[in-house]
Amino acid sequence: MRISVIGTGYLGAVHAAGMAELGFEVVGVDVDKAKIASLQAATMPFYEPEFEPLLEKHVGGRLRFTTDFAEVADADVHFVCVGTPQQGSSLAADMTYVDAAVDAIIPHLKDGSLVVGKSTVPVGTAERLAERIETLTPDSVNVELAWNPEFLREGFAVQDTLHPDRLVLGVPSAGAEQILREVYARTIEEDRTPVVVTDLPTAELVKVAANSFLATKISFINAMSEICEITGADVTLLADAIGYDDRIGRKFLNAGVGFGGGCLPKDIRAFSARAGELGAAASVAFLAEVDAINLRRREHVVELVRGQVGGLVGRRIAVLGAAFKPNSDDVRDSPALSIAGQLHLAGASVSVYDPKAMGNAAKIFPTLDYSDSVEECVHGADAVLHLTEWPEFRELDPETLGGKVAQRVVIDGRNCLDREAYKAAGWTYLGLGRS
Ligand code: UGA
Repeated sequence: MRISVIGTGYLGAVHAAGMAELGFEVVGVDVDKAKIASLQAATMPFYEPEFEPLLEKHVGGRLRFTTDFAEVADADVHFVCVGTPQQGSSLAADMTYVDAAVDAIIPHLKDGSLVVGKSTVPVGTAERLAERIETLTPDSVNVELAWNPEFLREGFAVQDTLHPDRLVLGVPSAGAEQILREVYARTIEEDRTPVVVTDLPTAELVKVAANSFLATKISFINAMSEICEITGADVTLLADAIGYDDRIGRKFLNAGVGFGGGCLPKDIRAFSARAGELGAAASVAFLAEVDAINLRRREHVVELVRGQVGGLVGRRIAVLGAAFKPNSDDVRDSPALSIAGQLHLAGASVSVYDPKAMGNAAKIFPTLDYSDSVEECVHGADAVLHLTEWPEFRELDPETLGGKVAQRVVIDGRNCLDREAYKAAGWTYLGLGRS
């Protein structure tokens, strides 16, 4: 079986390499020449642990990358993995890339092939695309469309691709299901991965429902954080205590500066927009509150800093972290960068350090100051903000760090520094939602 993957971003590039690892002949296609050149040279165009060895292993063998859509012609299965970012002018998802990807492969589809959507899309998209494929392919070419949402997390993309915790196959026929079961045969057999077979709209909705639930869980604990701050309670202990209840679970209950990235924020907004179009705005109205709680945490940190260092104009603030989470260089809707930007606009002199995301951060926030090391970043700082929980930040020695700053003030936006060690070294330690 031959596979094509359309779109080679965080999702598509790793999916293509994962499919090659599973034993298939794979071609990855993208309109971005620089990205394709990098992948074809077996160099990852973004940071993702474990990804480069997979490229090195398969590029030049059964994995290749191209900008020429005609090269998908001999594939039996085409995975559509392009992005669906938030539209510039509304909360809805921008479907330009999905539509363009499908249009680009239609002239090259062979009889009996299967198009499989993996992008996160508004419910109803699959049906619309299936009709478009049906209309634009000749009568002699029968092509079906399935939806197989992706649940991979950045930072764990390779593991999540090769060993997913579930497979959702939204299929129009038994034949399409059979093809997808063949693609994932190794995972299903070796890992006993649960398979949920659904219709197209259910598969599309599973993805947005999952991300909405995760976002809600994070905003729930951050709402508790707000109450803890008023009452003098400790949100990390509260999360531990409620997390022992299996029905609640401790995962995704880490209070702090909230969620960011290319998925959760735009997915809950796109879901709200789609529900509005369907006349069901009230059903997901709570997602607007989830969003609001999340954004409030960023403003809260700005206010904490202002209060702690006595105003912002001319104050020197060190920001540790720019990526939206550790083990990633992705800065899309990053809480860390958003806070750094707000402080800068309020007159502070902001220095940022991140182990992997400096290049991407400088592209979207060129006016911030970027340091080459933690030491340079915190030099002379009036406050140090810990906003992305990279392991190397957790391992910093508070005493050594204290020797470099102007004032020993640390705001732990991820609640995972050693509070007692900082306090013992004479720091004013402020966590979020912690007395
Ligand atoms: C998310 C989902 O977790 C994946 O299942 C999904 O496939 C992916 O979106 C997607 O739609 O493609 P990802 O964006 O990689 O994955 O990041 P997460 O690990 O979900 O973290 C999202 C944000 O929530 C990060 O900013 C993280 O710092 C924050 N977070 C996470 C918290 O603030 N608290 C927590 O307890 C957990």
